[in-house]
Amino acid sequence: MNREEFFIYLRERKALIDERLEFMISAPVRAPNTIIEAMRYSLLAGGKRIRPILCLAGAEAVGGEIDSVLPVACALEFIHTYSLIHDDLPAMDDDDFRRGRPTCHRVFGEAMAILAGDALLTEAFAIVAQSGLIHRSKAEKYLQVMYEMAQAAGITGMVGGQVMDVESEGKELTLADLKRMHEKKTGAMIRVSVTSGAFLGGGKEDEISALGTYGDHLGLAFQIADDILNVVGDKKLMGKNTGSDASRGKSTFPLMLGLDESKRRLEEEVLKSLEALSCFDEKADPLRHLATFVMEREY
Ligand code: IPE
Ligand code: IPE
Ligand code: MG
Ligand code: MG
Repeated sequence: MNREEFFIYLRERKALIDERLEFMISAPVRAPNTIIEAMRYSLLAGGKRIRPILCLAGAEAVGGEIDSVLPVACALEFIHTYSLIHDDLPAMDDDDFRRGRPTCHRVFGEAMAILAGDALLTEAFAIVAQSGLIHRSKAEKYLQVMYEMAQAAGITGMVGGQVMDVESEGKELTLADLKRMHEKKTGAMIRVSVTSGAFLGGGKEDEISALGTYGDHLGLAFQIADDILNVVGDKKLMGKNTGSDASRGKSTFPLMLGLDESKRRLEEEVLKSLEALSCFDEKADPLRHLATFVMEREY
């Protein structure tokens, strides 16, 4: 797969995920209109869909079909979107711009934004459970994935990382703590995206473990890139505000190490993520290109 083919792949995968997300969030449910509107507003606002794409690419890397993985990929995006809605709340990062539009709480109010996040998180687990109920022979696998998703999203993962983020505002972390915060805040969800896809795609234990290592390095790389973009990124391209980390006194890679050294660390993590793929054939090419994409991204 060359670069051009990868960008076509990326577009096609994003379209597939967007279509499925749209379907999932428009299925008739007996729920109040407002909450569905608020959920749709944030979920369908765009976004790179990196986590679901990684999930599908994880399945592909081990030679698996993507059909039975797609609901899980979408569930990961539900969880990610919930985390963004809550991350932007006045009590957290207090951001008013996300995915190119006013944040959920700016449009629907704080209460509804909190509830939209709650609902997206809850729905995510319903989606995976439902897959297990539909495909009974694979029920145990979906159960395992649910467990790992919960670990990645909860206090040992993303929520834990967000706690460290909130508690460290205005303080200077050590580099080791900063890395640990990034691993939890962003890395855990990135890792589980790849490994759950590979697991459902029928990957062997050693393959899943190698992809876990890939995910760990990519996750850290992803958050270093996010930190860098918060300093040098283009607000319009990214669809979110820049400069906010500094003004809120956040510990970030650029603040701690400077831009050049941060970029070097980013590159180092991407190289390590690529090394972890050395035992895979060309079926892992999308994962390889995704790592480069994370490093070079401008949004
Ligand atoms: C932003 O995630 C928040 C982080 C964890 C760094 P993304 O950069 O994946 O945001 P979207 O989904 O494309 O909007
Ligand atoms: C967001 O982290 C991470 C999660 C939502 C878990 P940040 O606060 O650093 O990301 P942005 O810059 O708002 O997207
Ligand atoms: Mg934050
Ligand atoms: Mg934020």
